[in-house]
Amino acid sequence: MKIKNAEFVISNSSVAKCPDSKLPEYAFIGRSNVGKSSLINMLTGRKALAKTSATPGKTQLINHFLINDNWHLVDLPGYGYAKVSKSTKNTFQKFITAYFEKREQMICAFVLVDSRHSPQKIDMEFMQWLGEHQVPFCIIFTKADKLKSKELDLKLENYEAEMLKTWLEMPQYFVTSANTAMGQEEILDYIEEINKNLKLR
Ligand code: GTP
Ligand code: MG
Repeated sequence: MKIKNAEFVISNSSVAKCPDSKLPEYAFIGRSNVGKSSLINMLTGRKALAKTSATPGKTQLINHFLINDNWHLVDLPGYGYAKVSKSTKNTFQKFITAYFEKREQMICAFVLVDSRHSPQKIDMEFMQWLGEHQVPFCIIFTKADKLKSKELDLKLENYEAEMLKTWLEMPQYFVTSANTAMGQEEILDYIEEINKNLKLR
């Protein structure tokens, strides 16, 4: 898929205020600082569409972007950021879970995990929650440029082994780098294919 248009639509903290539109949407979620906003900029080829920061906790709202006038891309706040106060953290969790429970046009959640790290409890729990709520999801491994290819292969093998302890199969996954645009085509083509099939329904 080629990105012809990518525009910011709205930010808000409540699923009720999300755009009143039936367009399919794809949400990007993961631990704070994992590289969600950078990935969104890489995917859309826009340098500053989503705000990025070296300090965790930058994205604090549900942000909708309209892509090619026919689907929404959604940047969500990171979970598991220790430095925000407990009450702020609860609010994130509440509106993130409300978003996934209520947003019917949400087609697929992309759960981002840092390819350098071993499987984290909070990500495992979040994917478990998605599974229990029948929310379709894929995994996106980020920052692959920071590893040598052998190290990367080992990390991926290890991640898959951990997933297979609780899942029957490894979910669809993508390996990406916001710096080199690795994974861009694969993810955009994946979304395009789903959008095509939705139209045929
Ligand atoms: P919050 O909105 O705070 O939850 O963070 P986020 O997940 O949106 O992360 P963001 O995109 O702001 O990136 C966090 C930091 O990681 C920034 O310093 C980015 O430059 C860096 N980063 C993100 N993606 C990559 C990548 O693929 N490679 C490298 N080397 N650095 C990356
Ligand atoms: Mg962000």
